[in-house]
Amino acid sequence: MQEEKNIMSFETVALDEAQNAVVIIDQTLLPGTTQLAVLKTAQEIWDAIYRLQVRGAPAIGVTAALGIYVLAKEIEEQDFEAFYQKFREYKEYLDSSRPTAVNLSWALRRMEAVCLQAGRQEKRPVAEVKEILHKEALRIRQEDVEVCRKIGEYGLSLLNPGDGILTHCNAGQLATVKYGTATAPIYLGQERGYHFHVFADETRPLLQGARLTAYELSCAGVDVTLICDNMAASVMSKGLVQAVFVGCDRVAANGDTANKIGTSMAALAANYYGVPVYVCAPTSTIDMDTAKGGDICIEERAPQEVTEMWYKEPMAPKGVKVYNPAFDVTDHELISGIITEYGIARAPYTESLKAVMDRKEKGEEL
Ligand code: MRU
Repeated sequence: MQEEKNIMSFETVALDEAQNAVVIIDQTLLPGTTQLAVLKTAQEIWDAIYRLQVRGAPAIGVTAALGIYVLAKEIEEQDFEAFYQKFREYKEYLDSSRPTAVNLSWALRRMEAVCLQAGRQEKRPVAEVKEILHKEALRIRQEDVEVCRKIGEYGLSLLNPGDGILTHCNAGQLATVKYGTATAPIYLGQERGYHFHVFADETRPLLQGARLTAYELSCAGVDVTLICDNMAASVMSKGLVQAVFVGCDRVAANGDTANKIGTSMAALAANYYGVPVYVCAPTSTIDMDTAKGGDICIEERAPQEVTEMWYKEPMAPKGVKVYNPAFDVTDHELISGIITEYGIARAPYTESLKAVMDRKEKGEEL
């Protein structure tokens, strides 16, 4: 336990080379206890993602990339095809830990592509393939920092000093390697004296807004006010919110976005009150193979998360039916802009998102 250190100086997810392990902040213990978890086996990595010890789409992707490297390093086979068979088993297994955040499969596919390129196409020895996987995993991690910073710059261009900003769930530093996505403009504004007032939805049922967003923003010295999810419309009706900034787990080709359950409710209220809604989305979260929001697989989680988790006593009658979808889809019509590292996509999203992805495909500089 290292409670005296500010949470902002911890790394959300990192590679420990000496132990050959992925090291994460165990987010299930925050804000009360800051404790690192050391993940070495496939089961440990899978559990950490499933149990939300590490969560948030970009952080899940980085954990998977580092994780598959850690596992690949331990594979003993020297024949590439035998090595690849085990690699693929690990990849499929990690990919099954959570279904909605596309960053998970995106990162694993990227790792698999370099693995196949080096081992099958270029016929490199397995030891070299492992080194290439090592570099790619670290590149994915480093890119996340640069991408979030860029999203922060674009996001900040939409805001004025003193603005009130509402956010939902945690799309903060704890959901990424650094800066967060929805919080990146807030942190950059903080550096530049913008004095934002942030309203953090508590985010039922797992309270990522209360436990994580309110925590990291207050540790960073940002003016943050915690509200229950059902207070968002009230705060907007009073003119206290000039923009909604949220993250996302998957953006469909038409601009529909899946994010933490309750996001669409905040977006509906914001549209009623004329408050713009911005979705912050690294291109790793944009899934052009999914045509529309209705095609996104929405994770359903255990009823106990609604009835008893985080409470001293169960808060519902024993055996009551519970519906617990972890995400919802915000219709693209409710979204004023999708902020990527390549700029802000606006409606019609089928065209603007394609243009963003084309720039990425061409490898344009950020
Ligand atoms: O279930 P979680 O905590 O992983 O859900 C996280 C979110 O919904 C975030 O808003 C999203 O992943 C974007 S994180 C930059």
